[in-house]
Amino acid sequence: MHTLETSLKTSLKTSLKGRSLLTWLDYSESEIRFLLDLAVQVKTEKRRGERHSRFAGKTLALLFEKRSTRTRCAFETAFGEEGGHPVFLSTDDIQLGAKESIEDTARVLGRMFDAIQFRGFKQSTVETLAAYSGVPVYNGLTDSFHPTQALADIQTLEENFGPAKGKKLCFIGDGRNNVARSLMVISAKVGVRFTIITPKQLYPKADLVKTCRDLAVTSGGEIQITENTEAVAEADAIYTDVWTSMGEESQKEERTRLLSPYQVNQSLMEKSNRKDTIFLHCLPAIKGEEVSSDVIDGPQSRAWDEAENRKHTIKAILLASLSAG
Ligand code: CP
Ligand code: NVA
Repeated sequence: MHTLETSLKTSLKTSLKGRSLLTWLDYSESEIRFLLDLAVQVKTEKRRGERHSRFAGKTLALLFEKRSTRTRCAFETAFGEEGGHPVFLSTDDIQLGAKESIEDTARVLGRMFDAIQFRGFKQSTVETLAAYSGVPVYNGLTDSFHPTQALADIQTLEENFGPAKGKKLCFIGDGRNNVARSLMVISAKVGVRFTIITPKQLYPKADLVKTCRDLAVTSGGEIQITENTEAVAEADAIYTDVWTSMGEESQKEERTRLLSPYQVNQSLMEKSNRKDTIFLHCLPAIKGEEVSSDVIDGPQSRAWDEAENRKHTIKAILLASLSAG
């Protein structure tokens, strides 16, 4: 039997089958480990040119309130190339909380689709879709979390340094944004030593930091929040994201003022005191703002591998929750 099919038949499959992914807070370390290992198998299959039809006859609704390149393309191609039928629905096309409640939209989509992906503003919307649709719902980014991104980030870290446990990952930029928050949660779950470097005004909320610190006690991870860029010392990976996230455009000027001293450039990379430190970015990047061109386009950057890994990790999430196996 094929190894990937064997993986899907393991006992963990039971706990992941039919599951939504709203935030990693709901997942155990071993469930996340299972998905990471599955993503490696998916990537290997792809490299070998193997073709399968594990989603044949299945449908996936892709709901977008905000723009997307990677997330949309990853879901659409991962599902479609295995024989599934993804349907892209932007809020210009469908009723979603405008003329029809989110609850009713969820009920209707759940009657027609096997699963739903949502990208948009409120975390409560993706939670309502999951509560009322009766099918697995995947969070493709909200103002609060970006969980599918964080799984690809850990896969990329592991491709360079082996198992994530004990590795040092530093996020520098807007410490309260969706990407920073999801990285903090997944790091706490899998035992990464995670640091957010950000000005005091952009520290993440204390309740989530406390939750993550408590989780890190069990996993062997560590959560540090600081204003000091010297904290990148000995980092395995230095990560940044745009200073102004989608939906926050009115705060661009203030963000630029606060975060300019936190640009990831060559001199910041050198503060790690390691030549093998890698650079990560969820993308899209604004070169010359949060990162200099020489870093993101340079030899330490793994941003393009990371973008590709979005597809492999998303396929792993879909396989675990939707395969018949
Ligand atoms: N990283 C990411 O989510 O990219 P998109 O906004 O293009 O989907
Ligand atoms: N923090 C960014 C991530 C984009 C993938 C945003 O929300 O715009």
